[in-house]
Parts: sequence; structure tokens; C-alpha cells
Amino acid sequence: MMNINTEKEYDVVVESPGRINLIGEHVDYSGGYVLPAAIDKKITLSFTKNNTDCCTVFSENFRSQFKIKLSDLTRSEIEWHNYIIGVVFHINVLKPNKIKGFDCTIHSNLPLGSGVSSSAALECGVAKGLNELFEIGLTDIEIISLSKDAEHTFVGTKCGIMDQFAVVKGKKNNLLLLNCETLKHRLIPADFGDYNIVLLNTNVSHNLATSEYNVRRDECNTALEAINTKYPKYTQLAQVNPNVIKEFKKILPEKTFNRALYVTKENRRTLYAVKCLENKDIKGFGEWLYKSHRGLTSLFEVSCGELDFLVDYTHNLNYVVGARMMGGGFGGCTINLVHKDFCKQFINIISPAYQERFNISLTPILVTIDNGVSKV
Ligand code: GLA
Repeated sequence: MMNINTEKEYDVVVESPGRINLIGEHVDYSGGYVLPAAIDKKITLSFTKNNTDCCTVFSENFRSQFKIKLSDLTRSEIEWHNYIIGVVFHINVLKPNKIKGFDCTIHSNLPLGSGVSSSAALECGVAKGLNELFEIGLTDIEIISLSKDAEHTFVGTKCGIMDQFAVVKGKKNNLLLLNCETLKHRLIPADFGDYNIVLLNTNVSHNLATSEYNVRRDECNTALEAINTKYPKYTQLAQVNPNVIKEFKKILPEKTFNRALYVTKENRRTLYAVKCLENKDIKGFGEWLYKSHRGLTSLFEVSCGELDFLVDYTHNLNYVVGARMMGGGFGGCTINLVHKDFCKQFINIISPAYQERFNISLTPILVTIDNGVSKV
């Protein structure tokens, strides 16, 4: 299929980054603290007004195009369409009749389904681009929130706010310590001393990801409801003290209890880890990453064999100070803090080991921390 609009200059071009998350996994939808950052791997979206009542969107990566009428914004059978249609729909809810016909070409160098949130990058990139193209006047927070709504209603993942927040608010060389209840955030310099961030993409994306994600969210809500019968003051599960959770051990079903315990412990780990980072204690910081992974595996149960293998493998490598699965889980990437002199060696040793164990190739991704979505 032909690329649309190859001859013309584009009216607006935006770059929308993926995100990493250092720690604070699966706590955003329980009002916890997370520590994400935007990265230098991005989706580029190029927009032009087309003076019709239709949107035409072309994905260079999929070599595929779709067209939809602005008066008929309904869900598509094809997943990637829904990220775009959903955003257009939700902008219309917030600011009716601002969006007119447009063409959009998308090129991505973000791996899909690998836990670096290509979905939030796409949603926020569409929202930011249309905001610029039609001078809609959406605030950052509106872009973040409507992009999340698009994922809930059109894609069906009841995600938290972390990914969209990091994609929009990311700052070069900084992590965002975000309170997901209040959306207050603080920049933490991403200074890991002699250590670099290395992502390892398992290249698996188990199809449990969406359904189990929503189940975890329900389990967390169930736990909070039970705790609220005795302690009505808690508005978010992440706020509850682990000792209070323990009072509910015999009351809650085992899995629900484990989920709740994980959330409250992970929430605290994020704050402890930030203290280590601020004290330049990178080894201490790395230890919290390992603890986070153990919780995600045993209590929250969102890891998988491939992720566990990669994290376990690093235990014997003294140049790796911390590693854990990153993002929603059931595949995707691990995040590793590796001494800068040993990154190559690390990749050269772990890649064949993974290949041998699973007969799947491993893709290392070296990332630097960059700014959030922006007009080029
Ligand atoms: C996905 C979701 C986020 C967050 C992470 C887990 O990336 O989109 O909202 O819940 O999983 O931390």
C-alpha cells in the first residue's frame, strides 16, 4: 500500500516516546508511587488537515492504512486502530467539533508488546498532534487523562495513569516520582553513577496480558472494599499499612490478600529506592529492584518463565546491581542496572543463554532518558 501524503509537507509532526519504570509496578491504579521516565525510542506521527470529514491513518511499520468518518467513531476489529479512534473519540467528548478531517502517518521505533508502552506513546502522540493541528487548547493533564480513557473504553485495558503521564511529562535525564492518587510529581535526577540501564526484550507477549491485568485491578478493588469495611479512611489500596493488610489474612481469599500485600509493600519500596538514589547508593537501589521482582512473581503473579529466567541469571553477575520485570508483565522486557564497562559482556553472555533455554532470540535495548511528547 502507498504511503499517504508522500509529496506534501506535513502541518504538524510530533515525537512521542516510550517509557521505562524503575520501580513502583502495578501500583498506579491503586494510587501508589511510581518512578517512570520517558526514553529516546519514539513514535513519530505526521499530521495534515485534509478538508474532508474523514481521518486516514497510515502505519509505516504495518504497511497498513485505515480510514474512518468523524461522524462514525466506533471500535475497530483491529487493535492498533482503536488507540487512535479512541483518542479522537475522547477529544470530541471533551472539546466537541474541534477535530476536522486529517491524514496521519505513523512511524515507530518502539518495539510493540514489550513493556515500554508503545500504546501510551501512540495515544498521547495522537492527542498531542491533533491538539496542535486544530489548536484545541488541551492541557497536558487532559491529554494524559483522555489517552487513558481511550485505552479503557476502546482497547479494553483498564490501565493506570503512569504510562501516559510519563510519556507526556517526561524530562531528559530525570525520573518522575509520581503520586498516582494526587498526580503530584517530583523530578529525580537519573544519576546511576557507573551503571547504565539495559532493557532485555524477551520477545514474548503472553496473551494473558490484558485479561489478567484487568483481573489484578479487580482483585485490588476487592481488597480495598474489604479493608474499608473496618477502615473507611483509606481511599487507595497503596496507602494501607502492610500491618493493616495482615489483619485481613483470614478474611480475604489468599490471592486477593497477596495482591494487597504486594501493592502496599511495592509502594513503600518505591520511596525507599528513591532515598537510595538520592544518597547515591546504587547498590541499595538495585536491591529494591530485585525485591520488587520477587513480589511481582510470587505475590502479584504477573511474571513469566522468560522474565524470571533473565532476572535470576543476573544474580551471579556482580556487575549487575538490580534487575526486574518491567511494565504490565506476562512478557515484555526486564530492566537491568549494569556497570557501564560490562554492558557488552552482559548482553553477549545472557543472549545465548536465553536462546538456548527458550529457543527465542533476546533483544537488548539500550535506552537514555529523554523528554516527553513534543512537536518537532
Ligand atoms: C501497564 C499499564 C500501567 C501500569 C503498568 C504496571 O504498563 O498501562 O498503567 O499499571 O502496566 O505498572
